[in-house]
Amino acid sequence: MESSASIVFIESQRMSPRKKTVIEILRDNPGFVSGQAISDSLGISRNAVHKHVNSLRARGFRILGISRRGYRLEEEPRRLVMPVVAKLTRGATLGTSFRYYDEIESTNAEAKRLAADGAPEGTVVVAESQLKGRGRLGRTWTSPPGKGLLFSVILRPGLAMTDAHLLTLTTGDAVAEAIEAQVKIPVHLKWPNDLIVDNRKAGGILLEVSGEQDRVDWVVAGIGINVNVEFAELPVTLRKTATSLKIATDKTVDRSVLLARILLTFDKAYRDCLANGFERTLREFRERDYLLHRSVSMQTREGPVVGEAAGIDDRGALLVALPDRHVRRFHSGDVTLHH
Ligand code: BTN
Repeated sequence: MESSASIVFIESQRMSPRKKTVIEILRDNPGFVSGQAISDSLGISRNAVHKHVNSLRARGFRILGISRRGYRLEEEPRRLVMPVVAKLTRGATLGTSFRYYDEIESTNAEAKRLAADGAPEGTVVVAESQLKGRGRLGRTWTSPPGKGLLFSVILRPGLAMTDAHLLTLTTGDAVAEAIEAQVKIPVHLKWPNDLIVDNRKAGGILLEVSGEQDRVDWVVAGIGINVNVEFAELPVTLRKTATSLKIATDKTVDRSVLLARILLTFDKAYRDCLANGFERTLREFRERDYLLHRSVSMQTREGPVVGEAAGIDDRGALLVALPDRHVRRFHSGDVTLHH
């Protein structure tokens, strides 16, 4: 029998013993507990109790506070069940070891550190929440604790540097396929790295690469998906453009099963790329291409270029047909829909 992957659980340093005690008091008392009772039993001020409650809320604990009655624990953050993930991915080459954090700065930043220290291919860094989640083009990625999937996979593909970016598309294909299989909703890909559900962004991929020109040393494939995020939990500024799997289907999705499914699908697609090249990646991306035939605007140094998206070429570059019928090729950049 194949042995299971190793799982290392890393508890956040920020969960002070006092905060833990506050949560234990609320757990032991299913009704309301007055702020005064908590402050008496811990020997801290009411204001300090209030601060602890707020920081627990920020970590995904739903705590109701009513004046003159006190606090009541409504819901604890749901955690990924890592032994289930490890069991479901047994035998796969991605998911050979897991590092699970309840809170981290960024899974990509940690995976990059581990990769630079020699961590093997297949190491997965996963977190319930990120303090400084990174997006593409210097943006941030935010997600309420315990509601999304936030993880990074270390790869050592031995590809030329000029091919590595194609793994962004491979990752997107695999994540889209796994979501469709489990959640039964169509997922499209907006070049190069956005997961689109119901015309809105439900997730993104951030690929980071290190190595020499002719050979990549490591790749970190970072994946962020809004899984069980509620509409009210989306940042106000993103409510017109973002969504989650829960918002799209009105169903809570089992994140552990989805994580395992993504790793298995990604593993297969990745092996195929290494053995046979990127033909399958490109074919599958084209089938999910969200931008195809849409009017798009691309930011360039000379200003925005507007045209019609015309698919991707065999290097994974975006093709844009300009009004004068010339086709321009973009290897990177920020593309938006033009209305
Ligand atoms: C984007 O759409 O701009 C890419 C978002 C990628 C977010 C994920 S969340 C897990 C991993 N760790 C990070 O800091 N970023 C990626």
